[in-house]
Order: sequence, then C-alpha cells, then structure tokens
Amino acid sequence: MRVFVLGGTGSIGSAVVQELIRRGHDVLALARSDVSAAKSGEAGATPVLGDIAAPEPWTQRLPPVDAVIHMACDFGTAMGAIDRRLLDVLLPALAAQPNKPRFIYTGGCWLFGATGDAIATEATPFRPLPAFAWNLQRVLEATEVDGIVIHPAMVYAGAGGVFQRLARDAVERDAVRVVASERVRWPLVHSEDLAVLYALALEGAPARSSYIGAAIDGLAVGRIARAFADRFGTRLSEPRIISPDAIAAELGEWARGYALDQRLSGAKARWELGWDPRHLDPEAEIAALP
Ligand SMILES: NC(=O)c1ccc[n+]([C@@H]2O[C@H](COP(=O)([O-])OP(=O)(O)OC[C@H]3O[C@@H](n4cnc5c(N)ncnc54)[C@H](OP(=O)(O)O)[C@@H]3O)[C@@H](O)[C@H]2O)c1
Repeated sequence: MRVFVLGGTGSIGSAVVQELIRRGHDVLALARSDVSAAKSGEAGATPVLGDIAAPEPWTQRLPPVDAVIHMACDFGTAMGAIDRRLLDVLLPALAAQPNKPRFIYTGGCWLFGATGDAIATEATPFRPLPAFAWNLQRVLEATEVDGIVIHPAMVYAGAGGVFQRLARDAVERDAVRVVASERVRWPLVHSEDLAVLYALALEGAPARSSYIGAAIDGLAVGRIARAFADRFGTRLSEPRIISPDAIAAELGEWARGYALDQRLSGAKARWELGWDPRHLDPEAEIAALP
C-alpha cells in the first residue's frame, strides 16, 4: 500500500516506518524540517515537507495514497487545538482522493485515566487528562476516510522512549526519580511490537475500530526504576518519589500522566488482528542493556 505517515521520525513513528518498509509498503513521511526529512529519507521513506500546525499548503498537494497514519504531536500546550485544526483541513482533503483512504489515528493509554486494579479495554469510557483532548470521535465517525484508532501503552525500546528519563536518572543522579509512588503501574509496549500492531491494523482492521496496544497490562514503575538503578550501579537502588506537580513543572502538563496507575488489555488486538507481541520482560531487557 502507499502510506502517508505523520510523525514518522518519533519514538512510535520511526518504528512504524521501519516495519511498513520491511513489509513492502511505499511510505511517504511528513517532515517539518530538513533534519526530519533527512531522517525519513535514510529510513527509506519519501519526505513531504510540511507542518501539522500549518496543514493547508501540504494537504492541497497530496499525491494519491491508500492510507494515512497519524502519529505526530509536539506535546506543546496547543497540541489539542493543533490536532483539531489538522483534522478539519486534512480529512476534507482526503475526501478528494481517488479511493477512500484508511486513516489510522493515535490515541493513548492516558486517555483512560487511572484504572487501579481494573483492566481497561476498548469499551472502557475515557477519563483523559485535560492536556490530551484528542479527537477520537471525529476520526471514528469520519465519512471522508475509514478511521481506525490505536491506543499505545507506554512505549519503550532499550533505554529509550518512556524509559529514557529513568535511564538518564540512573546514570546522572544518585537515585531514579519516580512520580507519585513506586506502586504506580504502567501498561507497556516495545516500539517494535507496537509497529507490528499499526501494520496489522493498516492491512486488516475494520473501519471504525479501536485497539489498545498493550503487551504488558501494567508493571509497577518502581520495578522498572530499580532495574535501571541495578543495571547502571546507581548509588541508591530505592527510587526517589517526586510529585506530579514537580514533573509537570519540569516537562509540561502532559507529564502528569506518569502518575497514573493503569492496567490496560491488549487482548482485542491479539484476538482480532493476530497481534503477538514478543517483548514481554522489560526488566530482563534492562538488565541486558549494553
Ligand atoms: N510514546 C508513548 O509512550 C505514547 C503512548 C501513547 C500515546 N502516544 C501518542 O503518540 C503520539 C506520538 O508520540 P511519540 O512518543 O512517538 O512522540 P515523539 O517521539 O515526540 O514524536 C513526535 C513526532 O511528531 C513530529 N512532529 C511534532 N510536531 C510536528 C509538527 N508541528 N509538524 C510535523 N511533525 C511534527 C515529530 O517530528 P520531528 O522529527 O520534526 O520532531 C516526530 O516525528 C502522540 O500523540 C502521543 O500522545 C505516545
């Protein structure tokens, strides 16, 4: 298929681009800078210059595509508004395509709020943080495209993705900082496994369907922090607890999500799409890091 990706250089998008190319798809990638264009080109995609915050110019000259996968976000305070306007411009532009494209939209685990011991599924009502005002209904009800939503769990790869901050603390500080409590559970997925889910959804998911991309329903963040402290010989193996206010002041309002105690099920993707995630033991992967 000919697939246009938005956010193809991000922690989710770069893995998705790699997987799509491995499966023989023809990938075009929106790039807001020459650096991003070069990265996409090196990955084997064809860059299309443009910015999600200024969608008019590039949406007017889209080539024919079979699908769009949207994984772009700048995590700024206006991200919800930027996304809404992007959809207002992009979806009508896609209505002019020769064939109705598939449109895969990225939601996220933090839309489900804190679940405690209950395991959230695609049928669970949302309780999003205010920073994550995503436009899921707009996509699922769109007539211009066949909309599909993927809700990634917390995405990691080696010491990268959501593990990056913990790994950096383990190397640079005397303790790894954890938000709220070390008992807070994070649903997790390795970026390679998540990329396979996007590809399976692209190739086979029905229109108007949603899938949670969680390989592990919830792992206590204290265990992840301790695994990094052990691996890098951090002076204190016990994590240092910081408040949601402190992480929001450091990284932005969106980072309050790190305090959410969540369990999410990836069972629907496994049953319906044959998703079979391979990375199921992040602590062992951390212990084996070079
Ligand atoms: N990572 C997770 O654990 C996770 C979990 C659940 C949901 N999500 C959601 O998944 C989406 C992507 O997350 P991520 O972690 O992959 O983010 P990321 O690593 O920060 O990547 C963001 C991507 O968006 C692109 N981008 C940002 N602003 C842009 C703009 N104005 N115009 C064009 N492209 C722009 C970036 O391009 P540049 O190369 O130019 O920077 C990059 O490719 C977000 O909506 C996030 O909420 C993420």
